[in-house]
Amino acid sequence: MTESQDFAALNEEYADKRPKDLIRHALEQHDAIAVSFSGAEDVVLIDMAVKIRPDVDIFTLDTGRLHPETYEFIEAVRKHYGIKIDIRTPEQQALQALVNEKGLFSFYEDGHQECCGVRKIAPLKAKLATLDAWITGQRHDQSQTRSDVPLIQADTTFAGANGSLTKYNPLANWTSAQVWEYIKVFDVPYNKLHQQGFVSIGCQPCTRPVLPNQHEREGRWWWEGSGHKECGLHAGNLISKG
Ligand code: ADX
Ligand code: SF4
Repeated sequence: MTESQDFAALNEEYADKRPKDLIRHALEQHDAIAVSFSGAEDVVLIDMAVKIRPDVDIFTLDTGRLHPETYEFIEAVRKHYGIKIDIRTPEQQALQALVNEKGLFSFYEDGHQECCGVRKIAPLKAKLATLDAWITGQRHDQSQTRSDVPLIQADTTFAGANGSLTKYNPLANWTSAQVWEYIKVFDVPYNKLHQQGFVSIGCQPCTRPVLPNQHEREGRWWWEGSGHKECGLHAGNLISKG
């Protein structure tokens, strides 16, 4: 049986199960696996994972441009769960070259890809190169580019420690409402920005609150076209959408 047939069967098997069941399965399958935490409502992944494996590997990409509230939240999460968070920062030389050449807001002029490349993607690649699998908080309802994201997939964008890399998206089928229900029921800490109209949260200069009934993704990179709002962390979504 090929790997993709395996994934098809697993996606079917877990379609009606809880995200926590898939996280348990993922943690049982891989030793070198980590949860990727953005400092937003994907905190529910941490809540679920630490209940299964208290010393689960959790990482966050500190771009250097997060909101103060997000830094405070990451610290609050670390203390609340008594966990280590592997905080990954951009490579110094690449960052210095970018900001010295183009300044601190180049993304407003020539798009967010270059800055995201230095501040997020390179540090992500370095982390993923130590892993066999990662767990993300992507959901179908977050954007058009994520509407087909499977629960389990081969990550064809990045390489893991042994070449291949499995990507788990346990919240893929959950709605934002289900995530927030979980946060309420289990008294999970959340980022204070959510009380100020922020739904999807990324870097401070590239995220703004949305109005009632405005789609959450409209608050991200709002000066760019709506169709391709992926920073590269989940670039495979664009490839699979053509
Ligand atoms: S992004 O690609 O547009 O920035 P988004 O903010 O929707 O992603 O988050 C989706 C998932 O990507 C998160 O649940 C998390 O797993 C991962 N992710 C996004 N940003 C980060 C980050 N700064 N550090 C770690 N993981 C992140
Ligand atoms: Fe840079 Fe904005 Fe991307 Fe953050 S979201 S890495 S500030 S372009």
